[in-house]
Amino acid sequence: MKQERRLLLLMEKIDKRFPGVHALDHVDFDLYEGEVHVLLGENGAGKSTLMKILSGSLPRDSGRIFIRNHEMQEIAHMSPEHAQALGIGMVYQELSLVPTLSVAENIFLGRLPRNRFGLIDWKRVHGDAKASLNTLGIDLDTHAITGSLSVAEQQLTEIARVLASQPRILVLDEPTSALSDTERTRLFEIIRRLREKGVGIIYISHRLAEVPLIGDRVTVLRDGQKIGTFPTSEVTEDQLIQMVVGRKLTEQYPKHGVEKGEVLLRVENLSVPGKLENISFEVYAGEILGVFGLMGAGQNELARALFGLEPAYTGRIYIRERLTPIRNSEGAIRVGIGLIPRDRREGLIPMLSIPPNITLGQVSQYSPHRVLSLQKEKQVAQRYIKELRIQPPILDRPVLYLSGGNQQKVVLARWLYGDTQILVLDDPTRGIDVGAKAEVFSIMDSLSRRGIGIVFISSEMQELLAMADRILVLRRGRIASIFQRGEVDQEDLLRSAS
Ligand SMILES: Nc1ncnc2c1ncn2[C@@H]1O[C@H](COP(=O)(O)OP(=O)(O)O)[C@@H](O)[C@H]1O
Ligand SMILES: [Mg+2]
Repeated sequence: MKQERRLLLLMEKIDKRFPGVHALDHVDFDLYEGEVHVLLGENGAGKSTLMKILSGSLPRDSGRIFIRNHEMQEIAHMSPEHAQALGIGMVYQELSLVPTLSVAENIFLGRLPRNRFGLIDWKRVHGDAKASLNTLGIDLDTHAITGSLSVAEQQLTEIARVLASQPRILVLDEPTSALSDTERTRLFEIIRRLREKGVGIIYISHRLAEVPLIGDRVTVLRDGQKIGTFPTSEVTEDQLIQMVVGRKLTEQYPKHGVEKGEVLLRVENLSVPGKLENISFEVYAGEILGVFGLMGAGQNELARALFGLEPAYTGRIYIRERLTPIRNSEGAIRVGIGLIPRDRREGLIPMLSIPPNITLGQVSQYSPHRVLSLQKEKQVAQRYIKELRIQPPILDRPVLYLSGGNQQKVVLARWLYGDTQILVLDDPTRGIDVGAKAEVFSIMDSLSRRGIGIVFISSEMQELLAMADRILVLRRGRIASIFQRGEVDQEDLLRSAS
């Protein structure tokens, strides 16, 4: 960054309350030319609210906003039109495109270019729209109806729309949530290019990993309060986690050493044609066995095979040292195996509420009359809502409306209720907040202390290193290594996996 960077934006003591929520508690924020300032925080921290106040779509309760327009100038009342005139461009988290209009019309909405007869110059509309999409590296038909595009394409169209207005201050609110890795990389290149040109960029994220990739500075918000602002080169990911969730790293990864017990699961020469080859390992009572591999190395098939979903497997599976073929999920459940699938939706019935989602499948086993009374079902649900801190604790709302982390807890509750001995977790923290992750880890820890054996598949090496007693590395369907806790680091895992 250049030394003589000028301040573009200063927000001072911005305060905002919604009924029952202090969304922003006297928050300060600033932005310089040619920098990417990341606004980081968990869901509900107040990030979008702060930026909606900047873009004039929400009024503030108090606080001051200054924006450079040649000189720094105080803006007493911000409106969307005023913000746009000041060069503030905002890509909202919720898409704001008109679904019935074409891509080109959306990109130039409100400022369609006209020819000298005062008519809309359609040739130019489509030409310019095409050009602005091209700078994003997107090949989209500008005549396509926006509502018919994929979410990622709509997101990119939205970004193209805001870029076409050539903002001096660009706000991107969680822009990568719907994007693929390639699209994200391309977006980051564009951000870097704009930064070189002196544009100030505010990049909102709840993904820690993106901070060092794109940010010059980072401001952490938690529960409406500003925790601090730092150059990204001066904070570690661990420090950021602590600031975002408000607890120490040892609390992020609660792990107690557990004396391991008998062998609960023994797998010998497990093969699934084309996917897994000669896999052998064992899992002890109270042990967390981590499984790591690059994408498609066979981890998903391993989880499925252990739960009876790869009935064509060969090899032997022993439960408590007894040879136990597992050819379907009923069979797996009967011998005490539970699966938290990679896709949470497979583990839940979205339209049903928490109680039936927990007791489902356990009814005949647990009720003396083969039917679980609604009364009993509610009691069970209340117990797990309390124990796992499922939020909000509402008994009659479809689980569809719960956050990812809380849905995950409902799936976990089902297996706890079902007296599971061996639990297979296939990437259980994918797409959930750091705070909810810590709770999932804490549940894993307490399960292992109860003597449950856990197979913990994850793509996050740090999680595995922190939580697993041993880590099995898969490479192209085979075991590449098995490491002991404490004798391995991220580099070893990667080297072994690739
Ligand atoms: N329009 C609104 N009405 C009531 N509460 C809101 C509204 N917008 C946001 N909130 C609340 O304000 C808090 C901050 O929300 P938000 O700024 O969207 O967080 P973030 O973008 O960091 O996830 C949350 O508790 C949210 O529920
Ligand atoms: Mg938000």
